[in-house]
Amino acid sequence: MNTFFYVIYPYVCLSIMACGLPLRYLYAPGQWNARSSQFFERRLLLWGSTMFHVGILLSLGGHVVGLLIPSSLFAKMGISHELHVRVAFVAGQAVAPLVLTGLGLLIYRRLCLPTLRCTTSAGDWLALALVCVAALTGGYQVFVAHVSAFDTVAPWVQSVLALSPQPELMREVPLFLQIHVINGFTLAAVLPFTRLVHIFSAPVTYPVAAPVLYRQRYEHL
Ligand code: HEM
Repeated sequence: MNTFFYVIYPYVCLSIMACGLPLRYLYAPGQWNARSSQFFERRLLLWGSTMFHVGILLSLGGHVVGLLIPSSLFAKMGISHELHVRVAFVAGQAVAPLVLTGLGLLIYRRLCLPTLRCTTSAGDWLALALVCVAALTGGYQVFVAHVSAFDTVAPWVQSVLALSPQPELMREVPLFLQIHVINGFTLAAVLPFTRLVHIFSAPVTYPVAAPVLYRQRYEHL
């Protein structure tokens, strides 16, 4: 099991993502979007989506810094292991309520509004379920478990990315954190087949895009 989940599974998931994204872009470019549901309901969406997206983007940034930068580099910068762990937990505790509350509102509106419920596809539910597992296990980590991942999960992720996986690093990791990790790779694998493709279309050029010009409508004409 250890070899399957921590040697084979990550590469299977990342390969599906790497092949699936360009294929979807080529064969279904018109469906490459976030499939906005603002048309059906906007008040809960405004709060839920804003909280969720601010939280999840900060959290992703934290994951990149925490998982991909080796602890030795932090030590060289004078940041001790204890301080590193503490900052990670405090940042996580600040961000997790945003993600959990926002996600709760997004799921609530999809479950409770009939128009939204019947326009939500199986892929949408799958994406929300996986994001939900990620948020709940992540929330459990920062509020309850406080397990340091810098000597286990982080070096394992780095070993996977260096194409030399060290599954033994994951052997002592608690089950909830293993679920968090495996769920994260599953999310990467299903990403090309769901609305989550919109993550790769962040409108970063939007602020500098040419303005859209509208002609003024004169009632008397
Ligand atoms: C890169 C920056 C991102 C932008 C600009 C963005 C934008 C959007 C937009 C416009 C929607 C549609 C909201 C609506 O119904 O009108 C949406 C929905 C959604 N986004 Fe993002 N997003 C981003 C990143 C992410 C990330 C990193 C995730 C996490 C995995 C994520 C997960 C979701 C989910 C699950 C929904 C569906 C929410 C629902 O149930 O309605 N997004 N996003």
